[in-house]
Amino acid sequence: MRYLSGIQPSGPLHLGNYFGAMRQHVARQNEHQCFYFIADFHALTTVQDPKLLSGYVRGVALDYLACGLDPEKVAFFRQSDVSEVTELAWILSTVTPMGLLERCHSYKDKVAKGISPSHGLFAYPVLMAADILIYDSNRVPVGKDQVQHVEVACDIAQSFNHRFGPTLVIPEHEVEEATAVVPGIDGQKMSKSYGNTIEMFAPEKNLKKAVMAIVTDSKTVEEPKNPEENIVYQLYSLMAGREEAEAMAGRFRAGGYGYGEAKKALLEKIIEYFGPFRRRREEIARDPATVENILQRGAEKARQAASQTMDRVRRAAGLKN
Ligand code: ADP
Ligand code: TRP
Repeated sequence: MRYLSGIQPSGPLHLGNYFGAMRQHVARQNEHQCFYFIADFHALTTVQDPKLLSGYVRGVALDYLACGLDPEKVAFFRQSDVSEVTELAWILSTVTPMGLLERCHSYKDKVAKGISPSHGLFAYPVLMAADILIYDSNRVPVGKDQVQHVEVACDIAQSFNHRFGPTLVIPEHEVEEATAVVPGIDGQKMSKSYGNTIEMFAPEKNLKKAVMAIVTDSKTVEEPKNPEENIVYQLYSLMAGREEAEAMAGRFRAGGYGYGEAKKALLEKIIEYFGPFRRRREEIARDPATVENILQRGAEKARQAASQTMDRVRRAAGLKN
């Protein structure tokens, strides 16, 4: 079984990225063949400052390695280091109906927010399909917001196979239901683009600022509260053990437990949970050459797999005899 996923270097990674995607990525590495990459071509649709982009790429590489990704077990690479993926994206675009892309939520959401769309933003799911299909991926572990894009990749693969004969492997998405949508500090889905994140590796004072800014209702300290309805508890229970989470839920239900106190407990939990990762990250960050080396070795493994698929695709489409 081959697993593949990508993460955009469009800002510092946050709890939504970790619990919605990264944690599953790391967990799969022991049982399956895994390809994980930093989607820098995709990030270029929104980050167009070269210094910022290269800094984010470096940040995502450190984040993954700090969180336990083992480069001996997985192919970990930069999307743009396997340029064949853009070739496949072009070929796939010729069998992709416009209507399929026009229906994509993430595109429609960005347009609704007033972003004037580039062709790259519109064609984003085609490149994502190429990412998935070029490595013959079977499973694509993602958060819920990316499921539609994986379905689009299936449609495009089917369309190609229908036109040119069985060539591409049809993938499936995999979503961890319990953490499919991690809420941000304002209650919407946590996302870099909504400015509502709690970053995994932010300095302690920024973490505190974000946690204290979590939106709550106006119930007084004395009033009983429903833990399931509040973001502080939802985030706390991602990191706390079952007993600890139940203890907090009990305090909320009983009344006499305020949001301020709960936020303090959440802040401590975040610091405790990500502490070991943070220390490892600091260590790895001291050796940028090794990180680059890991990405280059990953790209080599990825290119090998990609070139085999491209050979099949070129022959199927009549681009090569
Ligand atoms: P962002 O929305 O912050 O830009 P990305 O789109 O780069 O995040 O997401 C990277 C991965 O993290 C994807 O698999 C995505 O589904 C997952 N993810 C992002 N935000 C969340 C969230 N709030 N809850 C669950 N998963 C998330
Ligand atoms: N679009 C994904 C996101 O924003 C990142 C991504 C790019 C991806 N290519 C992919 C995820 C291929 C899974 C498979 O999170």
